[in-house]
Amino acid sequence: MECHGNLRWLATAVAAITLPSAVHAAEPPAGIRELVQTCAACHGPNGISQMPGSPSLAGQPDIFTQYQLVFIREGQRKVEVMQEIAKQLSDDNIRELGAWYASLPPPKGLRPKPPVDDAKVKAVMDPRKCANCHKEDFSGQGETGRIAGQRMDYLVKALHDFRSGARRGRGLGAMSEVSVTLQDPDIDMIARYLAGKP
Ligand code: HEC
Ligand code: HEC
Repeated sequence: MECHGNLRWLATAVAAITLPSAVHAAEPPAGIRELVQTCAACHGPNGISQMPGSPSLAGQPDIFTQYQLVFIREGQRKVEVMQEIAKQLSDDNIRELGAWYASLPPPKGLRPKPPVDDAKVKAVMDPRKCANCHKEDFSGQGETGRIAGQRMDYLVKALHDFRSGARRGRGLGAMSEVSVTLQDPDIDMIARYLAGKP
């Protein structure tokens, strides 16, 4: 049995190396396979959400997903619809879920219509400032989330939640400071801008 298990692991590892990265043939590890199906009901197959209000998880930095799941499990971040499932997550589940979603190809970003006027966006936010934490291409790093190609409705809600203090987040309240000066139309425009980023 032991030997069989090792061979299976090896086969999966080799497949992961030889397949082009766009093709994600691997399945989630056995420990989270059923969980991932439940998550998919809201976060979409392959972690790309089709559901309003529900963020895409594909391509999020591993650590970011882990932190958010811990916050949600401990109730520091209130997500009513996830309360039941989050309570059941072990630390191992959370580690595996973080790695799983980080391994999936991120959402492509839907070009908004009408297109966003970059100059207007820059008048209300300095993309270079976001880049300090979220990286130049908004793909995120460490505890800082990917915001490129995220659902627009979710980005709007997230920025409102940071501004109101409903969500505080990590990074010494960095996001409260970023969002406090934003007006509602600014938030809509920033969300459209980010949702369109590949
Ligand atoms: C019934 C729907 C539902 C299910 C099932 C669900 N989620 Fe969520 N999840 C949500 C919603 C809605 C949000 C956004 C909450 C908010 O607005 O702050 C969210 C937020 C998250 C976030 C934070 C993402 C971010 O960008 O900040 C993570 C991580 C997450 N979910 C992971 C999971 C995982 C892993 C599972 C399965 C174990 C799961 N969710 C199951 C609805 C769901
Ligand atoms: C000093 C670092 C820092 C800067 C600067 C910063 N952010 Fe963030 N941002 C974070 C961190 C850390 C998080 C995760 C917060 C948490 O734990 O909930 C985050 C989360 C977010 C989220 C929610 C992501 C999600 O999936 O839930 C959005 C949207 C966001 N930032 C947008 C922006 C924008 C737009 C800018 C520039 C105007 C910006 N941020 C500048 C650190 C930063």
